[in-house]
This record gives sequence, C-alpha cells and structure tokens, in this order.
Amino acid sequence: MAKGFTLAPSILSADFLHLEDAIQAAEKGGADWIHIDVMDGHFVPNITMGPVIVKAVRRATRLPLDVHLMIETPQRYLEDFAVAGADSLTVHVEATTDLEQVTQAIRDLGLRAGVAINPGTPIGRVKKALERIDLLLVMTVNPGFSEQTFMPGPLQEVEQLRELKLQRRTKALIQVDGGIDARTAPLAAQAGAEIFVAASAIFKHKEGIAAGIEAIRGSLATLETQGAPLADPADT
Ligand code: DX5
Ligand code: ZN
Repeated sequence: MAKGFTLAPSILSADFLHLEDAIQAAEKGGADWIHIDVMDGHFVPNITMGPVIVKAVRRATRLPLDVHLMIETPQRYLEDFAVAGADSLTVHVEATTDLEQVTQAIRDLGLRAGVAINPGTPIGRVKKALERIDLLLVMTVNPGFSEQTFMPGPLQEVEQLRELKLQRRTKALIQVDGGIDARTAPLAAQAGAEIFVAASAIFKHKEGIAAGIEAIRGSLATLETQGAPLADPADT
C-alpha cells in the first residue's frame, strides 16, 4: 500500500489447506507484512501454530513475517522463531517478568522487537520499554481468537502512546490487532495507529483476499493523504 500505513494480514483466518495460495494472494493484493499468531493454550485459551508454520510461510513470500507470540515464557522460543524466518517478534507484557531482557534478546537476534498489551493493561507497563523497541502492539480484542468484535476502549491507549512517542521522539510504531476492518481501521488510525493487523476482514472477505485488503486500504486513503502516520516502517 502507499507507504505510511502498514497492512499486516493475519493468516489465522486463512485456509490452511491452501496456505501458500492465500499468502500469495495477500502479497499480490498489496499486503505489507504477514502476521502470524502464535498461541500456546496457556497465555490464551487457544492453540495455533509454531516455528514449523513460520518456516513454511517463509518459503511462500518475501514479505516481512511479523510474529505475534501469545505464549508464556516467550524467551524460550525466540531463537526458534528467528531461525524459522521471523522478521519481528512481539511478546506480551503480561507474559514476561523481564521485558528488558526479552526485547534485547530479540534485537540481538537481528529482529524487530515488539511489545503487546491487552485491553485493560495499563500503558505504564510499557513506558520503560518504549525507547528500545520497534513495535508497540495494542490489542483491540482480548487475544485468543479471530472474528471478535473490535473494542474501542484501547484506542485511548493508542492516543496516549502517540503522545508519549512525540514527547520522547521514539520510533516505535503503533500497531493495532483485533476486529480491524474498513470501519474500524480509520478510527484506530485517527488515534495514532500506524500498522493494521486483520485476519477475518481479509482472509474471509466475501469478495476475496485482495478485496479485503483493498477495502481497508481504501478506508485509510484519505487519512494517509492527510499525513497521519508518524513514521515509515521502511525507515526502521
Ligand atoms: C487475536 C490475534 C489476531 C487475530 C485477529 O488474538 O492476535 O491477530 O487473528 O483476527 P480478526 O482480524 O479476525 O479480529
Ligand atoms: Zn495477532
């Protein structure tokens, strides 16, 4: 998409029997990154995929692979995901007691480091990490499943994080994930979001994957020309 806003389709809603086709359709349709939701059945009630899938997806696309770790003790698995081909690894602040060490370990592996917060988690818990991370993922649903209803409450956190970014002149990009579609993406963008993750709105769009991407991109187009984004991920 036109640079500024980044669109990251989440394969959680893709047809896993035809995953390569789905990823290539997303790439052709203008996806910027591919988002991969890793769930362990402990941090969240669902179990999804691990490094084996990341490794397979790596062979299907040249797009950056944005791996969202909804798992406990994520530090145990960072290297496995790096070897599998991840470009960014995002860990939940609620899932680790040593955010500094984990984010540094991700950077030491040569990857973008992200920190995610669930709805209701105070942003105070990520403030200290802000200077040394690349991505700040604000969940707009409680993590665990796709096709949930967008929660507007966390947009207040997005606004506060945008202010903090400006104050501290940090480059961490604000990402939103959960219930993002052509209606909710502009709301998140107005609050300060720069990266948009969407699973069902893209992979289950009734007119196909490219149409799902186009719908979200179109909904952001006016905001994009107004210069809403704060940074281009290509600069990071
Ligand atoms: C939720 C995952 C999301 C999810 C989004 O726990 O982190 O990435 O796949 O799904 P949609 O876009 O359908 O809400
Ligand atoms: Zn996700």
